[in-house]
Amino acid sequence: MAKLKLLGISTSARGRESNSYHLLNRAFEKLADGEIEKEIIVASELKLLPCRHHYSINAKMCVHPCLITQTDKSDEMKKIYDGILSADMVIFSTPIYWGNHSQLMQLIIERLNSLENSNSVHKKVLVKNKVAGMMILGHEDGYQHVAGGLMNFLTELGMIFPPQAYAAWVGESNEDTKSDRKRIETDSTIFEQFDDLVNNVVNFSKKILICSDCGEKLDYEHLSKKKLYKK
Ligand SMILES: Cc1cc2nc3c(=O)[nH]c(=O)nc-3n(C[C@H](O)[C@H](O)[C@H](O)COP(=O)(O)O)c2cc1C
Repeated sequence: MAKLKLLGISTSARGRESNSYHLLNRAFEKLADGEIEKEIIVASELKLLPCRHHYSINAKMCVHPCLITQTDKSDEMKKIYDGILSADMVIFSTPIYWGNHSQLMQLIIERLNSLENSNSVHKKVLVKNKVAGMMILGHEDGYQHVAGGLMNFLTELGMIFPPQAYAAWVGESNEDTKSDRKRIETDSTIFEQFDDLVNNVVNFSKKILICSDCGEKLDYEHLSKKKLYKK
């Protein structure tokens, strides 16, 4: 069977110290499957320049490679573009901040507009046959809202979801954030959800991305016809 590549993208500004990275990394480490190649990108370790919103000047200016990637060699968003384009499965991990995903997640979403725009404006499908999952971590409230926002973007990007495409945990809605790490390290029912998400993404991908009879990889693409109104 062909190997599948699983990419995790951790978007907490706290990097490897963060609780969301801890859960992502632990679940990736637990996955012992010789058919899966694993990689985690810690977004806070990269220099990621914010989107310059060329799309808003003229949708055709939003291209892949992104104009920032083409002109500013210090920008490291290429690692995320290449990581996603070469992966079969991508798990996005984000903390919750005031009911929303992280700033880094938002920066990445806006920069990924160039991949989405390749389909919707330039009529070239770049993101296809890839399965997505989400890991969402907070201390209080808001994970369904975050999941909804991410799913909206990721389906437009061209990703496919397994059933129950996200794992989430929020704490006790008090101000005792310092107890969260101990809790997620000792309460196995929390970790099981994140571990289960990784297994769900991998098992679903094996079923739909590779033909069990011929061993060939799925090759499905959908060119978006949305918003092509004639004036
Ligand atoms: C500015 C700020 C806003 C936050 N807002 C929320 C929130 O709306 N809902 C929630 O559940 N947790 C909220 N939290 C708590 C974090 O999501 C929580 O501490 C999380 O574990 C941080 O993830 P990390 O350790 O991966 O960085 C907030 C934290 C900060 C710093």
